[in-house]
Amino acid sequence: MPHIHFNQILVFSPITHMQMAWAQPDDEQAQGLTSPAYWQKLAKIIESACFDGVFFADTMSVPDDLADGARVAMQLGAQYPRQDPFALIPIMAAVTRYLGFGVTLSTAGTPPFLAVRRLGTLDNLTGGRVAWNVVTSHVGGDFRALGLTQLGHDERYDQADEYMEICYRLWDAFPRDAIVADRGKKIFVDADRVNKVEYEGKYLKCHAYPVTMCSPQGRPLIFQAGQSGRGMHFATTHADAIYALQPRIESMARFVKNIRAASHDIGKTNEPKVFFGIQPVIGGTEAEALQRRQELADAIPIEAGLNRLSGMIGIDLGKYDLDLPLENIETNASRGLLAATLDSIEGRAPTVREAALHWGMSYGMAQMVGTPEQIATKIENYWRESGCYGFNISPTVSPTSIIDFAEQVVPILQKRGLMRTEYADTTFRGNLSQ
Ligand SMILES: Cc1cc2nc3c(=O)[nH]c(=O)nc-3n(C[C@H](O)[C@H](O)[C@H](O)COP(=O)(O)O)c2cc1C
Repeated sequence: MPHIHFNQILVFSPITHMQMAWAQPDDEQAQGLTSPAYWQKLAKIIESACFDGVFFADTMSVPDDLADGARVAMQLGAQYPRQDPFALIPIMAAVTRYLGFGVTLSTAGTPPFLAVRRLGTLDNLTGGRVAWNVVTSHVGGDFRALGLTQLGHDERYDQADEYMEICYRLWDAFPRDAIVADRGKKIFVDADRVNKVEYEGKYLKCHAYPVTMCSPQGRPLIFQAGQSGRGMHFATTHADAIYALQPRIESMARFVKNIRAASHDIGKTNEPKVFFGIQPVIGGTEAEALQRRQELADAIPIEAGLNRLSGMIGIDLGKYDLDLPLENIETNASRGLLAATLDSIEGRAPTVREAALHWGMSYGMAQMVGTPEQIATKIENYWRESGCYGFNISPTVSPTSIIDFAEQVVPILQKRGLMRTEYADTTFRGNLSQ
């Protein structure tokens, strides 16, 4: 029987998505900047809840699109400092056996040869538990930090198509069973089975033998999150799974339908599995949950939300009247996320203030507020009505909100037969597919 799949979203910074989470008295994530024990504790909790994986969202630079943006981000600890999530995977994998690890790596800044090597090394060390969230970097600051020129919105995806082609060729060129390790014959790798990749494209080239063999899951699982027309085409072409953000159940259902149609158009039979980001806020009673949500929201200054939203659109929203509707601004950054934000309130566009508050709290994700029972029911309804494959859960306060979900919501879903009670496989690909 099909069941709901879950990943836990995390960011290697003092907060994940909720601004000012670090300032809540029971939040421990800031300690995680220097503490492997914090991440190992999370990994064990998340595996005990039978989630498919952890999903590390990441951008490389500090948002500097508001006039004083970098300063605001620093002062508010708004995903700042921001460390490299690759470093956490061996730490978390060492205390788990089944949990998968999705990690974001941009097609800007790291040549595909090195991406295949870094991801492949981790995939081998974890026994096939790595997924790659392929991003093309919508944040202008990432390019300025790397000394690169940002390509236009659609052209970034054209370049990324070439990037993926090189990765596929490198993965296919070194099958796992090319390693024979025959002591008698003194042959470690059967050199006839490893091929040289020769690729010359418009944007990228690679002439090399791959240096990492395939893992037990073949190649790393591919996640993607492009939501514009060109972004969806890229995602349906390459991704095993899509991480999407839609603020309402109706837009979620529309998104899943669009992905099915786009997959059909390119003749893809195994369409990508869609995961929607959601942020639960749990309380003993509905009133308690609503009060908790309000307390958390009240602790977030408007600048924090504006900063996030400006970074996503690539335009300084500080210059706009906060009480006028957010416009459909022409952006070279994330067109998909802007469209989702404009659709967050039924029948009208949100004001800049409403959108900023939403972004400050949940990065624009749908929130589910209520008792564990109510949240389980909402998740089931969203899953059934949208046709999605599962959800990426974004925490509020860490680790308490992660523990609350694992201990209070997961058992209800398991009792209803909507979630697995044990893992089906030891690879990310294996668990995602069952
Ligand atoms: C749910 C979601 C999560 C995303 N996470 C990241 C991320 O962690 N890092 C990043 O650089 N971009 C991230 N993005 C941005 C997308 O990868 C993409 O570059 C951006 O949305 C622009 O493409 P689009 O206009 O096709 O949507 C995310 C987008 C969505 C919708």
